Amino acid sequence: MKIDIINVTKKYGNKKAVDNLSLTLTNGVYALLGANGSGKTTLMRMIADVLKPTQGEIRLDGESIKKLDAEYRNLIGYLPQNFGYYKDFTAEDFLYYFCALKGINGSFRKSRTEELLKYVDLYSERKKKIKTFSGGMRQRLGIAQALLNNPAILILDEPTAGLDPKERIRFRNLMMEMSKDRIVIYATHIVSDISFIADRVLIMKEGRIVADGTVQSLTESVKGKVWRIKAKREALTVIQKRFVIGEAFTESDGIVSLRLISAEKPCENAEPCEPDLSDVYLNFFGEVSTDENHYTV
Ligand SMILES: Nc1ncnc2c1ncn2[C@@H]1O[C@H](COP(=O)(O)OP(=O)(O)O)[C@@H](O)[C@H]1O
Ligand SMILES: [Mg+2]
Repeated sequence: MKIDIINVTKKYGNKKAVDNLSLTLTNGVYALLGANGSGKTTLMRMIADVLKPTQGEIRLDGESIKKLDAEYRNLIGYLPQNFGYYKDFTAEDFLYYFCALKGINGSFRKSRTEELLKYVDLYSERKKKIKTFSGGMRQRLGIAQALLNNPAILILDEPTAGLDPKERIRFRNLMMEMSKDRIVIYATHIVSDISFIADRVLIMKEGRIVADGTVQSLTESVKGKVWRIKAKREALTVIQKRFVIGEAFTESDGIVSLRLISAEKPCENAEPCEPDLSDVYLNFFGEVSTDENHYTV
């Protein structure tokens, strides 16, 4: 199965939320990484066919999704961002309701709902109202909803938003299980969610894909640009004006240890670091406080 996104643009007034974007998706897990406002949700809504592009086209195996219409939508499982409504529904009723929307009826409705409640570990909570659920429970229920029709294309918009570290790990395991033989695309702005799950990482900025690769290849692209320096606390303001700073901590009294991105060795005592995906992200989204950018993309 293959989705082609061809020169897709979405405009809100004059604002291009997605800007002439082209991308091909095949089976596998794609992490869509980008700062708030970079266009992730808009892109995902178009792939989910709940929003029409202003320009361009999306095709499934060569056929326009506009033409495929319901046939395409039946293949989709979609967890929207801020899936916070239906507070007075119980978990079970919520899934029954979505079964109805998706045309799942009869005895299959009950068995499928039961199966998914067990799958996301909410079976014993099935009679409780959603308003009593934690963020993690709600997200798991949202995922169960997205999986009802056993979709070939699974679209999850910020599925880990608001989850605590334990729930995050649980989600990661769930993702690994459910990502077989599907196209899975999920949006996040949390870098640590990605490394273990994603086959491909798409970095989105201002409506465009600015980087596309495996975690390994993207990490490779910042090799030699990541440094750790030690500096006096007083020097911090000056350093922040010149470099993109990542992780920072207090080393000892008055001395800070900083991870930073720089194409050239930033200072004499700088130690080179092994890059990871968070450095890639910083390289795209980190901001120095002046107009001069001392890093290259
Ligand atoms: N319904 C809308 N009306 C007007 N502007 C919108 C609408 N939805 C999104 N935008 C704008 O489009 C841009 C991309 O938003 P969005 O796709 O939600 O990004 P992300 O999901 O990466 O945070 C933002 O500048 C946002 O303000
Ligand atoms: Mg969003």
